[in-house]
Amino acid sequence: MIIVRTIEALQSAKEALGGSIGFVPTMGALHQGHLSLIQQARKENEHLIVSIFVNPTQFLEGEDLDAYPRKEDADIKICELCSVDILFMPSIDVMYEKDELCIGAPALSGYVLEGEKRPGHFDGMLQVVMKLLNLSAANKAYFGKKDAQQLALIMQMVKNYFMNVEIIPCDIVRDEQGLALSSRNVYLSIEEKQRALSLSAALKKATSLIRAGELESSVIKEEMKKILSVTDELEYVAIVDRNFQALHSVEIGNTIILIAARVGKPRLIDNLWI
Ligand code: PAJ
Repeated sequence: MIIVRTIEALQSAKEALGGSIGFVPTMGALHQGHLSLIQQARKENEHLIVSIFVNPTQFLEGEDLDAYPRKEDADIKICELCSVDILFMPSIDVMYEKDELCIGAPALSGYVLEGEKRPGHFDGMLQVVMKLLNLSAANKAYFGKKDAQQLALIMQMVKNYFMNVEIIPCDIVRDEQGLALSSRNVYLSIEEKQRALSLSAALKKATSLIRAGELESSVIKEEMKKILSVTDELEYVAIVDRNFQALHSVEIGNTIILIAARVGKPRLIDNLWI
């Protein structure tokens, strides 16, 4: 594995590779969720590039940019064990100039739910993903359904800007109790972890209601909210179509149920694709 920290080093490391390239962008503090993307990319491509970059432009004022978990040594070992060819770990200066051309998230799907709670987050996320996809020149890039809106917006960017890369959506990885893995879970105490399980429990409840024939969004959301009452702050429970617009009733094959809630310090998100 070659570790590169500059654009020039990345380009020359890439020149040595022939054949198809898979790419997994991350912000590090790698866990099994990231690993599932990395392992799938490893299987489906001749070469594999992973990036680790805690992107400042997608954090809002007052968010946890400085406190975001950083585990560089462990991450390097994990990437080595996963047979990554190139690990790209740029600094902020390598990635950004002072006065940049910016990309804006679309007005409808980019400013609801996460986009409404974290205005500007998706602009910064799309900006860095555009840079990383261009730099990697990958054939396929892998993103988790855990960040459902992020994934949908990246797919839209690739379509709208005619970018030559295939985006591969990957399933959510959970721990044995159902909690969706996240780098921020390290901040949960044992007691908070128990309450954090209410997110996946609420999604399970939604599944069983839908299986029993209940399709009305308001009824499903009320039942979910009862379970989610143990969280410290419930930001939203939403039942939306694949364009993130609210649905009055569940449409099988075109629905995503999303939750954002704070438990202790961390803000947690989870979702279910129906
Ligand atoms: P990060 O939170 O590090 O996540 C990197 C990738 O791992 C994303 O595609 C995310 O959806 C996926 N992922 C995280 N937890 C997962 C889980 N439990 N199951 C499946 N996939 C999971 O998302 C970002 O970084 C950044 O916004 C980034 C795209 C790198 C741009 O800065």
